[in-house]
Amino acid sequence: MPNTRVRHTRPEDIPALIKLQARVYPAIPPWGRRKLAEQLDVFPQGQLVAENEDGLIGCASSLIVLWDDWADSHTWKEITGAGTFENHTPTGRTLYGAEVFVAPEARGTGAGHLLYEGRRTLCRAMNLKRIIACGRLPGYHVHAATLTPQSYAQKVVWGDLKDSVLNFQLHEGFDFCGVLEDYLPEDKESCGHASIIVWLNPDYDPDQPTIIPKEIPL
Ligand SMILES: CC(C)(COP(=O)(O)OP(=O)(O)OC[C@H]1O[C@@H](n2cnc3c(N)ncnc32)[C@H](O)[C@@H]1OP(=O)(O)O)[C@@H](O)C(=O)NCCC(=O)NCCS
Repeated sequence: MPNTRVRHTRPEDIPALIKLQARVYPAIPPWGRRKLAEQLDVFPQGQLVAENEDGLIGCASSLIVLWDDWADSHTWKEITGAGTFENHTPTGRTLYGAEVFVAPEARGTGAGHLLYEGRRTLCRAMNLKRIIACGRLPGYHVHAATLTPQSYAQKVVWGDLKDSVLNFQLHEGFDFCGVLEDYLPEDKESCGHASIIVWLNPDYDPDQPTIIPKEIPL
């Protein structure tokens, strides 16, 4: 959408973000003011919002992790420190996508793409190896009686089923790596499960450290 832009989150965005998140996930308690402030204190470079002339229409929140510590198994609550980002590890090599959402009325116009593009810019600017996220599978509940979450996700990857989140992520160039069960138990649409997805940074230089510049132009 021509009028949509992505920028870093500012403390004054917090009240609007809380309202937006409550609209996006009516059945899941939104992040409180304190958690959002903590995320900004811990890793301001990793917090993005999308806005247009009507105000905030989306956000993408990330932290850096040592993926080996979490790869075998984790829940959303564990890896994000219950939303505080206390596990943010500035020497890590993996940008972990903790949350991304777009206002219902603004979806399908490219805001999600701009937020993902913003994350790829962060990944490149910090010389990180990859972006990993665990994506909701909001269409799974419709098939939960007949398919395992793994079979459901595979059918989406194979093009036999559609999922509004996993399809978007695949079109954004992410690879599907499997399913994490009981990732976010409060998420009834996904029956708590999530897909693990990865994007590898083609510019990553393993001989250089992770760099976290104070300002990252988007
Ligand atoms: C997943 C989500 C963030 C995507 O955001 P979005 O703003 O709708 O994303 P985009 O508009 O960039 O892309 C969505 C689709 O619209 C299409 N699209 C984008 N711009 C378009 C345009 N101008 N005209 C037509 N289609 C367009 C994209 O190709 C994409 O299609 P695909 O899903 O088949 O790949 C959004 O659906 C959302 O907030 N979902 C609820 C929250 C959620 O579950 N988040 C995931 C947490 S893991």
